[in-house]
Amino acid sequence: MKTIALITLLGLALPALADRLPMPSDAPASFKEECGSCHLAYPPALLAADDWRRIMNGLNDHFGSDATVSPKNGPKIKSFLESHAGRADRLGNAGHPPRITQTQRFIRKHHEVPAKFWRDPRVKSAANCEACHRGAANGNYGEHDIAIPELRD
Ligand code: HEC
Ligand code: HEC
Repeated sequence: MKTIALITLLGLALPALADRLPMPSDAPASFKEECGSCHLAYPPALLAADDWRRIMNGLNDHFGSDATVSPKNGPKIKSFLESHAGRADRLGNAGHPPRITQTQRFIRKHHEVPAKFWRDPRVKSAANCEACHRGAANGNYGEHDIAIPELRD
C-alpha cells in the first residue's frame, strides 16, 4: 500500500518539478543584482558545482564581458550557486566555458525547438531564456508559458 502511494506521488510530482525552477529562498540579494543585470539570474540547478566554480573564477573574461563582482559578494554568490547546483551526471558536460545551453539536459529539453527560432531576432541566443519563457524570472518554464505562439503546443 505504502509503495503504491509513494509511486503515485512521485509520478505526479516529477513533471511539475521539471517546469518549475524557483529561485532558492536563500539567494543573496547580490546574486540577482550582480548576475541578473545582463541576463536572467539563471537557476543554480541548471549547472553543476564545478561549472559554477569555473564561471565564478573567470568573471573578468565572461563571454566577452567583464562581470567581476565585489570581493564581498563574490564568495557569497559562489557558495550559493555551489550549494544549489545540479548533479553533473544528470546535466551532462557543459563545455568550456560552461554553458547551461550546452548541457545534454538543456539540449534534450529543447530538441523539438526548430533551429530557426534560435536565430529569430526575438530570441538571438539560447541563453536568452525570457525570449521564449515568459515566466522565467519567476521560475516558470511550463509549456503554457511560452511567449512565441508557433512554439506553443
Ligand atoms: C556585464 C554583463 C554580464 C554580467 C554582469 C554577468 N553576465 Fe553572465 N553572461 C554575459 C554574456 C554576454 C553571456 C553570453 C550570452 C549569450 O551567449 O547569449 C553570459 C552568459 C552566462 C552563462 C552561460 C549562459 C548559457 O549560454 O548557458 C552563465 C551560466 C552566466 N552568464 C552566469 C553569470 C553569473 C553567475 C553572473 C554573476 C556572477 C553573470 N553571469 C553576470 C554577460 C554578463
Ligand atoms: C527559442 C525559445 C526558447 C529559449 C530561448 C529557451 N527555451 Fe526552454 N523551452 C522552449 C520550449 C518550446 C520548451 C518546451 C516546452 C514544453 O513542451 O514543455 C522548453 C522547455 C524548457 C524546460 C523544460 C520544461 C519542462 O516542462 O520540462 C526548461 C527547464 C527550460 N526550457 C529552460 C530554459 C532555460 C533555463 C533557458 C535559457 C538558458 C531556455 N529554456 C531557453 C523554448 C525555449
